[in-house]
Amino acid sequence: MSLRDIVILPDNILKQTSAPFEKIDADVRALADDMFDTMYHAPGIGLAAVQIGLLQRMLVVDVAKEDEPREPICMINPKIVWSSEELSEYEEGCLSIPETYDLVTRPAEIKVTYQDREGANCERHCEGLLATCVQHEIDHLDGILFIDHISRLKRDRIIKKFVKAAKQKAIM
Ligand code: NI
Repeated sequence: MSLRDIVILPDNILKQTSAPFEKIDADVRALADDMFDTMYHAPGIGLAAVQIGLLQRMLVVDVAKEDEPREPICMINPKIVWSSEELSEYEEGCLSIPETYDLVTRPAEIKVTYQDREGANCERHCEGLLATCVQHEIDHLDGILFIDHISRLKRDRIIKKFVKAAKQKAIM
């Protein structure tokens, strides 16, 4: 198990679509372990493989509160098969867009099919923060960031800030 570096905006890989896993083996399980380690260490409540530079369809989430036992969920090849008409709004952030938060509206409940780390086919009904978090991470697998769900004006401002920061870092 080891910590991986997290890719930060405006890295272009974040805009790319991830490919499905064809088989789930020990290497895939080791990757899931690294993703959990990296997410907990950040700390964050969700992480997609693209955020550690791998264009593969895996996400990890844990929305348990700090004083509650951990509830790690790893989804491989996740697919939203149903979304509620009812919407909910959460203030979202992203480990690839540090210290940036904004309100995003998404379906309040979803049903997701995926494979777990043993390769078993699973289906899960998600609501509340878990529904938002899973949708945010599945978006990552399709090259979509939470800032793509906010106004263009705000999005452009955030991107500009990160482009500038990346340039300054390159000079130093
Ligand atoms: Ni994110």
